[in-house]
Amino acid sequence: MASRSIRLAVVPGDGIGPEVVAEGLKVLSAVAPAHDLTFQQTDYDLGAARWHRTGETLPDAVLAELREQEVILLGAVGDPSVPSGVLERGLLLRARFELDHYVNLRPVKLFPGVATPLAGAGPDDIDMIVVREGTEGPYTGVGGVLRKGTPAEVATQESVNTYYGVERVVRYAFEVAASRPRRKLTLVHKDNVLTFAGELYQRVLAEVGAEFPQVATDYVHVDAATMFFVNQPRRFDVVVTDNLFGDIITDIGAAIAGGIGLAASGNVNPTGAAPSMFEPVHGSAPDIAGQGKADPTATILSVAMLLDHVGAPAAARAVERAVSDDLTERGALGARSTAQIGDAIAKRVSG
Ligand code: NAI
Ligand code: MG
Repeated sequence: MASRSIRLAVVPGDGIGPEVVAEGLKVLSAVAPAHDLTFQQTDYDLGAARWHRTGETLPDAVLAELREQEVILLGAVGDPSVPSGVLERGLLLRARFELDHYVNLRPVKLFPGVATPLAGAGPDDIDMIVVREGTEGPYTGVGGVLRKGTPAEVATQESVNTYYGVERVVRYAFEVAASRPRRKLTLVHKDNVLTFAGELYQRVLAEVGAEFPQVATDYVHVDAATMFFVNQPRRFDVVVTDNLFGDIITDIGAAIAGGIGLAASGNVNPTGAAPSMFEPVHGSAPDIAGQGKADPTATILSVAMLLDHVGAPAAARAVERAVSDDLTERGALGARSTAQIGDAIAKRVSG
């Protein structure tokens, strides 16, 4: 079989971003040959350092180049020296909106041997995938401020929900649910209070659900969901939810499934009209940057998601297996550096 070449954009970013991305790429290079894949890699210098140097977050010219890539691997961006919101809105959210990443995929899976804070819970109890809407809800930036700095200040931050946007993400979630053994899809919202948006999600769930009779559906209010993630995680198989609720519940998801060092994600444009972007859920962790202490596992699992996305599921499974085996033995191995963990997982996938 001729080797398949894939155009890969890499944005190492700030803090521990470059450290964990190096390990993700190490594993990618190790797994690729056996699966007849080659990656044509282009690195992009974006993040805090660039903003300080040039004032740019995601310049149009770079965005245009990114569009020509097939897939993007991102470390993390953000630094205490940059005002809050500049890189989040200007770079991360801009990329998600411009590249129409309407699905934010976040698996919540407890691997064997990994400690969870939930007493008595094991891998069979925590195995779900959250499909978070990525381009609408309260994150669109619609709203504004009046009379700023006065006692009469008004701040609005509208939640935008379109039929088009809800339908496509709910449909995607049904497809994911139909492909999993349990075939269960739970809508998480707050339809008793957010009646307009909640009703839209409910109606679309019923409508699209009619095309997926094999998938059982369920509804949970978001506040109850935060509780059930902790005391009944088994309830959940696939979860579909809006942008803000998804952001919040996936942090709980990361906490119950072994911590932020293991949580992977994908910002996905399922149409393929623009490249999808895979990244660990965690940020740039300035508190441990440059010390070789960061766990690269979340990035390596994001690489597995990237491989699935480019149509290399066998390579994705090989990476997941290597991570799983490494995690099983991790407790007995003592403290390892970022590079040592990357080396160990890379060795497992190549040998
Ligand atoms: P964070 O995720 O960077 O760190 C939270 C805590 O988790 C810290 O104690 C950190 O040391 C630890 N941690 C994170 N990743 C780890 C890893 N791989 N291994 C071991 N420990 C790890 O979140 P925080 O501190 O709220 O934000 C730091 C910066 O990152 C901010 O500028 C924030 O805006 C940015 N950020 C960027 C994200 C992105 O690029 N997608 C996502 C979240 C935050
Ligand atoms: Mg978050």
